[in-house]
Amino acid sequence: MLQAIAGAVDTPVYVYDGDAFDERIERLQAALTDVDHLICYALKANDSLAMISIAAHAGLGADVVSSGELLKALRGGILPADVVFSGVGKRRDEIAMAIEVGVQSLNVESAQELDVVAEEADAQRTVARVGVRLNPDVSADTHEYIATGSSAAKFGVPPQEAYELLVRAQREPNLEPVSLSFHIGSQIFDPSTIFEAAERAEGVWRDVRAAGVELREFDVGGGLGVPYMGAEEFDLSAYVSQLGKLTAELGATLVLEPGRWLVAPVGTLLTRVLYTKDVPGRRIAICDAGMTELLRPALYGAEHPFSFLTDTAGRQTGLVDLVGPVCEASDFLGKDRQLPLPEPGDLIAIGFAGAYARVMASQYNARPPVPEVLAEAGGWRVIRERAIIDSLLDTERA
Ligand code: LLP
Repeated sequence: MLQAIAGAVDTPVYVYDGDAFDERIERLQAALTDVDHLICYALKANDSLAMISIAAHAGLGADVVSSGELLKALRGGILPADVVFSGVGKRRDEIAMAIEVGVQSLNVESAQELDVVAEEADAQRTVARVGVRLNPDVSADTHEYIATGSSAAKFGVPPQEAYELLVRAQREPNLEPVSLSFHIGSQIFDPSTIFEAAERAEGVWRDVRAAGVELREFDVGGGLGVPYMGAEEFDLSAYVSQLGKLTAELGATLVLEPGRWLVAPVGTLLTRVLYTKDVPGRRIAICDAGMTELLRPALYGAEHPFSFLTDTAGRQTGLVDLVGPVCEASDFLGKDRQLPLPEPGDLIAIGFAGAYARVMASQYNARPPVPEVLAEAGGWRVIRERAIIDSLLDTERA
């Protein structure tokens, strides 16, 4: 089917397997059957409307970090009462919108932000449900750009301040404290750092309860890792049983905000090789997709699996750099890979491109956004048209 899609829609194109997305949602839900929980799909991983509607149909809530994501969540069919609004820098208008639509919880990350929420709730003569994001000061074992839980990070507030903000929220007439959250990073395999963070959160939870604040949601963020190149799978059952036990003890709803785990494996980026060059020790294959469609290799040195969809029988294998057409040396899709030596015209599927791929795309080099396709129930359809080049000029004035 991927060849047919590339033929019909042209490359580059992202293709998502909707059935596989559904299956992963069901797998996570099944692991949580005995736990009082709410799964808030982290829209930032993949905010395509068609994917949001699949999540909404499966009964998921959403974790959003901007008014744009909030709008998309609602448009995709997710109920406001199932939305948590995270993010370290929400603007006043975004906070006002979240209060107006009635999100489940606005998770604040500073005393100043709590002031703005109180002011906006007051202006709307309503009560805003709030949470506080704890900075638990634990270092997740992941790339430094996606580790968020250390005390030097910009995210969350330390335990004492989390306590004070929740107690203060309880006193404010326009605020209702409902949640304590943390998120220590992304692409994590060893859940022990998440458990450590949960223990610190448990301390804050018990302290605020002693001060008369009855929270409802214990929000452990996202972060579940996926095996881009290896075989290591995130141990869902250990994760769920430990956190489920803790939240049952606290009488809390366990809120999870997974993004990558749900969508990364269900997406593929299709690209064609335009030209090849042989340089000492390797072949460089210049593709029609690059850092503008998949930034992760350039930004984090991330590795994604490649498979050839054209016949490579009888070809020699060798060291290959797969690069994009963008005028940057950092524009690569993968380096130093042992692959069949690519030829112009080869169609290559880049795996695990369902999360943090299209959402991080840019128009650098005036490259228009590429289309997205949803494959489902044996068929497929375009869920985002290829932007025509003229659209790049729509909002410009010469
Ligand atoms: N909740 C919060 C508050 C977050 O900041 C994030 C991700 C998530 C949930 C979802 O995390 P996940 O389950 O997807 O790990 N662009 C990077 C990943 C950045 C993640 C940022 N926050 C990448 O491509 O690896």
